[in-house]
This record gives sequence, structure tokens and C-alpha cells, in this order.
Amino acid sequence: MRDYKLALLGFGNVGQALGRLLLKKESDIQSQYDLTFSVTGIATEHHGRAINPNGIDLEQALSLIDNGDSLNTLSTRSIPADAFDFIQRCGADVLFENTPVNYQDGQPAVDYLVTALNLGLHAITANKGPVVFAYHQLTHLAKSNGCNFFFESAVMDGAPIFSLFRETLPTAKLNTFHGILNSTTNLILKRMEQGETFDDAVAYAQSIGIAETDPSGDVDGWDAAIKVAALVTVLMDVSIKPYEVDRRGISHLSNKDITKALKESKRWKLLCSAYKDGDRLVARVAPEMVPMDSPFYRIDGTTSIVQFETDVLGKLSIIESDPGPHTTAYGLLADFINAVKGGR
Ligand SMILES: NC(=O)c1ccc[n+]([C@@H]2O[C@H](COP(=O)([O-])OP(=O)(O)OC[C@H]3O[C@@H](n4cnc5c(N)ncnc54)[C@H](OP(=O)(O)O)[C@@H]3O)[C@@H](O)[C@H]2O)c1
Repeated sequence: MRDYKLALLGFGNVGQALGRLLLKKESDIQSQYDLTFSVTGIATEHHGRAINPNGIDLEQALSLIDNGDSLNTLSTRSIPADAFDFIQRCGADVLFENTPVNYQDGQPAVDYLVTALNLGLHAITANKGPVVFAYHQLTHLAKSNGCNFFFESAVMDGAPIFSLFRETLPTAKLNTFHGILNSTTNLILKRMEQGETFDDAVAYAQSIGIAETDPSGDVDGWDAAIKVAALVTVLMDVSIKPYEVDRRGISHLSNKDITKALKESKRWKLLCSAYKDGDRLVARVAPEMVPMDSPFYRIDGTTSIVQFETDVLGKLSIIESDPGPHTTAYGLLADFINAVKGGR
């Protein structure tokens, strides 16, 4: 039986959900994959950092964070000075990087992952930044160090997208995709159909914790654009950045526009798409009115969908209902098992 040491860099919504899932699935992982694990390090920015080569008690870590206490008390080694010091001294085989996304250049997460891969750790992240800004660099580095760089949860949380192509669709060429990849805007549009103003619908999304205090990342289409860039970069092998995606958000849509669409039996959706036009790649995020016979018409609330068109399978759709940190955590767990099942 192989034993793995895990380090969690970032212990916010996703890091904590991963902690809970690791506790829940520990015995299944052992019995189905013949592997055991312990968490030898957890690091945050403002809530402490801990390293314990004998394994940190995850329940205790979760309860400290719940109570607003520092993780420092769990450390049996000197407290790491910063995230880089943490990665270097955590003694792990696998690093889970779950720090905030940076839409401009993916940092500092890219450098965290480079540091981990250079040390021979498998690097797993839910962060879209490193996928968009450093996919080729990180994948190459992982290969040359005999480890893996996986990021299933970066788009559509735990739904299998990247592993679907990597593991189960050999030689398939992705010609085009369409989807609804931002759940916050989908929920806002639904609430506007029910009569709420744009501002009230945004306030509702904020009140249930799915829109940020500054909602522009969602409503202006940036979150959708970085997801489109990630899919294009990895699955279509064309490196594009979020600002190269032709992007329009939903903030200009009025209740009048929404009502007009409903009268025509259509609904506004923030659609994401990409396709190759000769040598040119066209990538787009924009609100569109979809008719009743569209696969996107019935995608409601926080549900997401992507429809791929490949040269071998025609149209293939994946729908993920009601995602959240728990489904993101599952993508990370699946990446862990896929990363180590080859034996390292
Ligand atoms: N939430 C979701 O369902 C979801 C879904 C898909 C992908 N993601 C991605 O997953 C990542 C984590 O999301 P989240 O919702 O867990 O965020 P979060 O709740 O804000 O947690 C972020 C964690 O990273 C730490 N951190 C912040 N800045 C750091 C830095 N410069 N260096 C090291 N650690 C730092 C924070 O520490 P402090 O709290 O002490 O500041 C916290 O522990 C993001 O990249 C996000 O885009 C999230």
C-alpha cells in the first residue's frame, strides 16, 4: 500500500470542502485504490500555517478555522514564513493549490505551482489563473519532473471536462463548444425573468454568497472569459488570454429586454463559445436570446452546461446542477487519484 503526504495551500471555501471530503472518502480511497494519505501541511494567508510530518488532524484544523482561530497551533515545525517556505518544507508528495484567482497574470499561484513541480510534487489546482497563463509551462515542467499538473475543477467545478478529453477521448479533435459557464449571471437572469431588477438580482446573488462584493468579474463576463480561455488553451491547443476573448456582460440588459424575449418564447443567456475559422480562433462571451428548442433554454439558476462538438462524436453535452465548493472539492480529489494511480 502506497502512502501519500498531502499539502493544502489555501484553506478557504474550497480548501475546507476538500478537507471534509478527504475525511469522508478516506476509507473508500484506501479500499478501492490501495492507498493511504495524511495531510502534512495546511497554509493560508491570514489564518495561519501548519506543518506536521506525522499528519495534521483535519477535524481540528476545520474547527480552528470555523472558530476564527489560527492554524499555527497545529504546527510541530517552525511556522513557515510564507507560501514558498511552506511548499519547500511541507514534505508532501502532492500540493493542492486553492488560492484566489488573478485574472491579469495568474500570479502568485503560477509561481507556487512551479515551486511545487520543481520539487517533484504533483500539483493540483482549482484556480483558473495558472491554467490560462501557464498551462504549457506547468505541463512541461510536470512531465520533466515525473509528476502531474491537473486542474479538473478550474472549469465547471467537479464535472469531468479536462479528464474526459485526457482519459476517455483519444485522438478526438474539438472543433467547437458552446456553453453557460457562469452560474451567477445565469441566476441573475432567472431572477430578472421573475420580475426583479438587475440590482436586486445581483444583491440576491451576493446574499447567498455566490456573487462577490464587487460583482463585475461575473456580470461583465470576465469569469466566463477566463473559463473560455482555459478550455481553448487546453482542449483546442491555442493559447489565448481572457482579454483576447470577445466579451460582453449582462449589465446592459433591462427588464424590458428580458420580458420581450419571454414574449417571443426565448430567454437571455450569457453564452460562451469558441470555434476555429481557418487559422483564426474565435472565442466569445455574450448575452444571446435562445429559443425553446435550444439545449441552453432550460438551464436554470446556478446550473452550468457545455456542449462539445468533436470530429468523432458529434455533439456531447455535460450539465452540472447546483455546483459549489463541495463539487469543486470532488474535482480535486479525482485529480489526486488520477495523478497518483500510475504509481508515483
Ligand atoms: N468557490 C468555488 O466553488 C470555486 C469553484 C471553482 C474554482 N474555484 C477556485 O478555487 C480557488 C479557491 O477559491 P475559494 O472559494 O476557496 O477562495 P477563498 O475562500 O477566498 O480561499 C482562498 C484561500 O487562499 C488563501 N490565500 C489568499 N491569498 C493568498 C496568497 N497570496 N498566498 C497564499 N494563500 C492565499 C486564503 O487565506 P486567508 O483566508 O487567510 O486570506 C484562503 O485560505 C480560487 O482560485 C477559485 O477561483 C472556486
